[in-house]
Amino acid sequence: MDINTICVHGSAHKTDYTGSVTVPIYQTATFAHLGVGQSTGYDYSRLQNPTREQLENVVAALEHGTDAIAFSTGMAAISAVMELFEAGDHIVISDDLYGGSHRLFHHISEKNGLTFTAVNTTDLLLIEKNIQPQSKAIFIETPSNPMMQITDIAEVAKIAKAHRLLLIVDNTFLSPYFQNPIDLGADIVMHSGTKYLGGHNDTLAGFAVTASNELSEKLRFIFKTVGACLSPFDSYLLIRGIKTLSIRMERQQENALKLAGWLAQHPKIKAVYYAGLPTHHGYEISKRQARGFGSMISFETDSEQTAHQVLERVKLILFAESLGGVETLITYPMLQTHADIPASEREAKGINERLLRLSVGLEASDDIIADLEQALR
Ligand SMILES: Cc1ncc(COP(=O)(O)O)c(C=O)c1O
Repeated sequence: MDINTICVHGSAHKTDYTGSVTVPIYQTATFAHLGVGQSTGYDYSRLQNPTREQLENVVAALEHGTDAIAFSTGMAAISAVMELFEAGDHIVISDDLYGGSHRLFHHISEKNGLTFTAVNTTDLLLIEKNIQPQSKAIFIETPSNPMMQITDIAEVAKIAKAHRLLLIVDNTFLSPYFQNPIDLGADIVMHSGTKYLGGHNDTLAGFAVTASNELSEKLRFIFKTVGACLSPFDSYLLIRGIKTLSIRMERQQENALKLAGWLAQHPKIKAVYYAGLPTHHGYEISKRQARGFGSMISFETDSEQTAHQVLERVKLILFAESLGGVETLITYPMLQTHADIPASEREAKGINERLLRLSVGLEASDDIIADLEQALR
């Protein structure tokens, strides 16, 4: 089935006995048993819920996985995946990651005995060099947040296979509409469903998509035990959001391409980080491994004062954390998404007082550009 059709109809569209066109919200905590040893297949909503199940089927189909598990947030999904590992295990991670993942790894997972080595995963030799005997996985984001680094997923998958490591890819920035890491050799795909999948800045959600039944079984056990499941109502909102994923992704990307080109020629902008610009280091890899460049742009202004001025003067664009929704948002990574990363590490990556991040929305591109123009004046 084509991806556009899966977005609208789910993996296998079935109506219930009423013929309801949309998936009903099964707002129930528990399910009655018909008799001893009998079950409808649903026992308790932490384990399974029909609305959540429909959403999980859609996301698994979109990501070409054997299973997708819907969590209450993206961070809940990543935390659950960390439970696959044991004290003493080591994981190689991208040195440019969402700040919340960095915080989880260094403040919670390390406390539980895991160790991490952060490397620039665009450099394959560096990944190889940092694999240790106790390494169990490689965790990457591509494009990365916020510096938009592009890692070659298929090449990293080869390294992971050779060393018997799991490859975990956070695919939040491109969504399954533009990129399918499992097809390139990933074992687990992560999503903050809060972003493009939900698409409306109104719901928190997270997903872990598995490439094998074995991984799915292990993660389902953690899921039902830890309990950070997505509610029936939020599952419904995600199903609703995904119905328009394809047109949102296309239109937001169209806007982003125009905006990136406009920013690149602005005298107060010193650098633009967007994989859709042919000058970007990862342009060719992006074209090879993804079907689009997405709509996340980071850019460096000429001074801290200009960056503050933009944040304070934007009118249409909202100065807010998060991304992937229909509204254009501007973020100050240094103070918001990446505030918990030690200053020296942050600065070395270019996440400084001049860096801003845009999540380009669905408004008319001319209106977004006009807003930025007046804010930069
Ligand atoms: C790339 C990426 N992964 C994971 C997350 C965490 O998702 P959530 O905010 O839904 O917990 C975020 C949040 O911004 C993100 O940008």
